[in-house]
Amino acid sequence: MLEIDGSTSSRHQPSAGGVVVSADADSSPGNGWTHRHLLDVDQLSRRELERFLELAAEMRERRQQHEQLHLLDGEVVGLAFGEPSTRTRVSFELAATAVGAQVVGLPIEASSMTKGESLVDTLRTLERTGVTMVILRHPMSGAPYLAARSTGLRIVNAGDGSHAHPTQALLDALTLRDALGDLDGKKVAIVGDIAHSRVARSNLHALTALGASVWLAGPPAWIRGFAAWPQVHVADRLEEALDEADAVMALRIQLEREAGGDMPSLREYIVRWGLDTKRMALARRGAPLLHPGPTNEGVEVTAELAASSQSLIGAQVANGVATRMAVLALLAA
Ligand code: NCD
Repeated sequence: MLEIDGSTSSRHQPSAGGVVVSADADSSPGNGWTHRHLLDVDQLSRRELERFLELAAEMRERRQQHEQLHLLDGEVVGLAFGEPSTRTRVSFELAATAVGAQVVGLPIEASSMTKGESLVDTLRTLERTGVTMVILRHPMSGAPYLAARSTGLRIVNAGDGSHAHPTQALLDALTLRDALGDLDGKKVAIVGDIAHSRVARSNLHALTALGASVWLAGPPAWIRGFAAWPQVHVADRLEEALDEADAVMALRIQLEREAGGDMPSLREYIVRWGLDTKRMALARRGAPLLHPGPTNEGVEVTAELAASSQSLIGAQVANGVATRMAVLALLAA
């Protein structure tokens, strides 16, 4: 299994207790974690995902013990955010600090990009100052791929347009695994604006790779085309997706990604697709509710449901830090 050993020494001295990333003999080529970047979940095999979740759980325990890890001593992590963020940005900063990296923030709207500098030139500038890893959030789908190709930086995709949000899917998988155990054979319903959601796309990869089947429900224009994905079902009615679901995930309407054009009125959305405790009762008893946040209570979910014992929205946020610690540790190893 993947093993991160030695919490107190530099990662550059593995024999003295730095990072040891080992793997079972029958692991994927490269015998361990071989990825230089985290661009989306589809680059990870089921085995890598399962190992990742174990490592994230271990990171969570270490964090609960207030251990200061030194797995990224000497690394400088740049947070380059070109879109608003609360959970992702704060948890990456805390995660990078917890594993021993130096952190530098670069809000893109306050950078020289406002003077016309390109994204690639901006990232190359960061690289020249000594930044080694960049956590990149960008409105353009594919921006992290461009960054990975055009610089020597290791890149973590923190959300690119409507394309992917791998660390959200990883923390969702950790949260679901805590609640349900093995996800193999489980039914997960995802409700809302699937078409414009990077969270949905990365979750489709992660959940199906871990053996779950995913049911999508929402306004027709927002779920069309997804039936072609393996292990993904497009429900005709919300009730069909919720029926006996082991878990339910609601998504925010991505108005900033032109979801408005295909949107029914807000009122109709709430009436037809809004989740409340009554609708959740169609799922398995006590089935967990997830939402990546930010939530618009009263739209995707009622305030009552969001605050209920079924809601794991707070746990998702909390799991974000350990998940991102594990990502950073693996990319640095
Ligand atoms: C998501 C995002 O930015 O894609 N938020 C997050 O990172 N937790 C979901 C959203 O904004 O709706």
